[in-house]
This record gives sequence, structure tokens and C-alpha cells, in this order.
Amino acid sequence: MTVVIETPDAMRDLGERIASGLRAGDLVVLSGPLGAGKTTLAQGIGRGLGVSGAVVSPTFVIARVHRGGRLPLVHVDAYRLSSIEEVDDLDLDAVLDESVTLVEWGEGLVEGLAGDRLHVTIGRPEDGASEVRTVEITGVGDRWSDVVLWDTGS
Ligand SMILES: Nc1ncnc2c1ncn2[C@@H]1O[C@H](COP(=O)(O)OP(=O)(O)OP(=O)(O)O)[C@@H](O)[C@H]1O
Ligand SMILES: [Mg+2]
Repeated sequence: MTVVIETPDAMRDLGERIASGLRAGDLVVLSGPLGAGKTTLAQGIGRGLGVSGAVVSPTFVIARVHRGGRLPLVHVDAYRLSSIEEVDDLDLDAVLDESVTLVEWGEGLVEGLAGDRLHVTIGRPEDGASEVRTVEITGVGDRWSDVVLWDTGS
């Protein structure tokens, strides 16, 4: 399923909508080029879960846990990680079951953490000036087979 998102606020709204369908143990893998809007979407998911603390991408912080919401949000930026071993070192599986785990740049690295996962891939136009993004959302595994949390209607 692909949706077109025209502004950063709309991206946060989409995140909020996605958050409403998330439950403990869910793994969400965010892909897309630098500046695509992965963190912006993560902010919306954080808002939707009601967590405290700004969801940002500070340099040198790889994983951060946001509490105080409906579920803890574990926000991981795997940009600087290059191996599955480094992902293992973060011990994400220790918190995965009771949290929503969101991984930027996680494609090809974190699939081993959970068989069922939601892949969100953000595309941006070549020219770089436009705010239009395409967001492709694909659920992998039984968990996602009947879930329609990316319906942007209503
Ligand atoms: N439609 C849009 N959706 C999301 N962000 C947008 C959009 N249009 C413009 N932007 C801007 O693009 C930037 C996206 O930055 P963001 O940090 O979310 O990207 P990212 O994919 O996390 O980047 P990185 O790969 O560096 O982590 C922000 O400055 C945001 O305001
Ligand atoms: Mg980011």
C-alpha cells in the first residue's frame, strides 16, 4: 500500500495513525534516503503513543527509549551500525516484547529480531525541493495480514 504525503505535518499525522494500530512487540523498519522523513514519521508515532521526550536523531545516540505513553517506544537509528553483531549488542530483544521498536536504516540488519514486522519505505523526489513523499507500507507475517492501519481516509 502506498500513500502520498505532502508535508512534514502530514507525515506526523500518518505516524499517529500508524501508532493507533501498534501493540507491544511490534517491530517497524523505516527505510528511505537521508532526509526522507523517517524521524519525522517516528515523531508522529511517538505522539500517537503519547510518549514523553522529543523523538529526534541526535548524533551518536543509536537507541533511545521513550516512556510515559500507551507503550514504550524504542527508537533506533542504525545508520552507523554495519553488522548484525552490533545490533545484537544493543540487546533489543530484551525490550522488544513490551515495546514498539522502530528502527531507521534497519533494513537488512534487524529482520532477525522479529519474524513479523512492518516495513515503511519513504521515497523523495530527485530534485530535493519538493515536500512530496511517497510512503510504502508493507506488513510481513501473520501479525499484519488483516491490519489496515495505513488507511489515510476519514
Ligand atoms: N512530506 C514530508 N515528510 C517528512 N519530512 C519532510 C517532508 N517534506 C519536507 N520534510 C523535511 O525533510 C526533513 C526530513 O528529516 P528527517 O530527519 O525526518 O529525515 P530522516 O529520513 O530521518 O533522515 P536521516 O536519514 O538523516 O535520519 C525534515 O527537515 C522535514 O521537515
Ligand atoms: Mg532520521
